Amino acid sequence: MLYHKIVEVREKIKQWKKEGLTVGLVPTMGALHNGHLSLIKKSVEKCDKTVVSVFVNPIQFCPGEDLDKYPRTLDADEKLCNDAGVDIVFSPSPVEMYPDAQMLSNDFLTYVIPPFFYTNKLCGKSRVGHFDGVCTVVNKLFNIVQPDFAFFGEKDRQQLIILKKMVKDLNIPVQIIPCPIVREENGLALSSRNKYLSEDDKVNALVLSKILFNIKSCYNEGMKDVKALTETAYSFLNDRHSLEYLEFRDADNLEEKTAADNNTIVFIALKIGNVRLIDNISLV
Ligand code: PAJ
Repeated sequence: MLYHKIVEVREKIKQWKKEGLTVGLVPTMGALHNGHLSLIKKSVEKCDKTVVSVFVNPIQFCPGEDLDKYPRTLDADEKLCNDAGVDIVFSPSPVEMYPDAQMLSNDFLTYVIPPFFYTNKLCGKSRVGHFDGVCTVVNKLFNIVQPDFAFFGEKDRQQLIILKKMVKDLNIPVQIIPCPIVREENGLALSSRNKYLSEDDKVNALVLSKILFNIKSCYNEGMKDVKALTETAYSFLNDRHSLEYLEFRDADNLEEKTAADNNTIVFIALKIGNVRLIDNISLV
């Protein structure tokens, strides 16, 4: 069932709660692919009812980013959700979510601001304010849907770590369920933004997973020094790749590591032409 209005969702959820049913929420920005689908399947399996939100959240895009051209495929998304056994697809308009839509700055809107230590690095460094927008919209979705469980992908690992921190710090009564990264057979992590890549660029994009898999195998063979592990990446890069970061950080609090250990995540971001891609791997 497709809903656009918050009141309609609230009404349905109220009924479910009365019946003692558990509710799972899968927040998305749509253009659904098998990565999203893995989260949806997990929720359908675990919870009595599943809500998938499809909302391209304007306040998490920085000026000059792809808000206008972000792929919007609601009909296909709805069908995919129906086939997967989803109970509600919630696709609000920007005005429904932000009634003061012409005033989306934090001078006029109440924001949820995650700690600077978590947001001043990795993607937050080039995307200033991005995680404020993410935390604000996810907090709103939690308030609207009041889920028992919420499903997030490890693909966006910094986002996942920040949202876990938000839930803990603000005592939000929801359990976050992390879901592993879904990749194409060749290693490329699925992403809605892969739609921007030409066939050539798709081949170039394999460099992210190649670098990460290679670092993991070097680590497993005993290489622990982060500087040495970082250097293994350079032979994979060519002039089509513009590396934004390759960093080793703690899986819980994003602190920088000088020696890799089993609680380390390796994060990578690079641009191919105008398309910015991210990936990460856990060294467990
Ligand atoms: P979106 O990019 O649509 O992703 C929705 C969810 O799907 C996120 O939790 C993301 O980590 C997960 N996901 C995407 N690709 C994946 C893959 N290849 N494997 C596993 N999971 C994957 O992330 C957002 O939207 C937004 O920031 C949102 C949380 C909805 C707030 O607006």
